[in-house]
Amino acid sequence: MEGVVDHTMRELLTRIGGISRCVTEFVRVTTHTLPKKVFYRFCPELHTNGCTTNGTPVYVQLLGGNAELMASSALVAANLGAPGIDINFGCPAKTVNRNDGGSVILKEPNRVFNIVSSIRRAVPQNIPVTTKIRLGFSDRGLLREISQAIFDANASELCIHARTKEDGYKPPAHWEAIAAISEISPIPIIANGEIWNVKDYHRCVSQSACTDVMLGRGALSFPDLARQIQSSGVTPRLAWLEILDLMVNFSRVTEEVYESKHVANRIKQWLSYLRREYVQADKLFKQVKRLKRPEEIATSIDAHRSQSIYKPIVVNL
Ligand SMILES: Cc1cc2nc3c(=O)[nH]c(=O)nc-3n(C[C@H](O)[C@H](O)[C@H](O)COP(=O)(O)O)c2cc1C
Repeated sequence: MEGVVDHTMRELLTRIGGISRCVTEFVRVTTHTLPKKVFYRFCPELHTNGCTTNGTPVYVQLLGGNAELMASSALVAANLGAPGIDINFGCPAKTVNRNDGGSVILKEPNRVFNIVSSIRRAVPQNIPVTTKIRLGFSDRGLLREISQAIFDANASELCIHARTKEDGYKPPAHWEAIAAISEISPIPIIANGEIWNVKDYHRCVSQSACTDVMLGRGALSFPDLARQIQSSGVTPRLAWLEILDLMVNFSRVTEEVYESKHVANRIKQWLSYLRREYVQADKLFKQVKRLKRPEEIATSIDAHRSQSIYKPIVVNL
């Protein structure tokens, strides 16, 4: 997720467990073939076989409308050891769509075909080329045609975010609309959208007729959601104090990568997602929201932690 799930967050989440694959933030391809340094920036895991520390593969996600440049850029990423190339046809952002990238391409299934097939032909066969779409741009009218274009282009997988571009991120996600595609698909279909807890996961797989899902915001608000899904709820959930430990560590790691103000913003951003699942996150968010320096935030987390630890009541007899 652009601006949210960079390599530091991928490392944190994959260490918890339950995640079988990650995708980078989208990398835009506009006027030229992207140089190596861009891919190393978006995917530092390329230095370690394209995997996070616990061996979770990270596919490089490309976004753009020029099939030739997308293909030549995909080849650069593949040559650097990307374990897979993912193509983004889902981004709803106006600036992205205006520049011929993301969900706007769903209006023209033949262009979806050209982009996917060009990339498929460019990168070695052993490297999966996966795709991510929405149900359509303004409606679902072209969903079958878009999906067929992706099958015909020999993509390895198709992930469907169960909303149109017009829907934005508005709930609900229409998981049942994915079923029409999973029932006819020759390739694995991955369902995505509005999976915030284990119950949502079960409802999503049953309505979409998929066996695999992609987690978006839910992975941030409920960091062990993938592990909970995989262990069928047998593993105990992460306690708030454990989340705080992860946060302190996350702050240390991001300090090595970003300027101070960005570190503070990353922590606040994660806290704002966590608020959905943990009431304590809301309290902590209010305490830190005006702080700018990571040291101030660390002090605030420490104070919050000591308030959160259960203190036995001493009774004087
Ligand atoms: C801030 C933000 C950034 C995102 N960036 C990307 C991205 O770079 N690539 C991508 O495929 N999807 C991106 N998405 C979409 C999510 O991957 C996901 O498809 C969407 O949020 C629906 O899933 P959810 O309801 O579980 O969050 C982004 C979503 C958000 C909210």
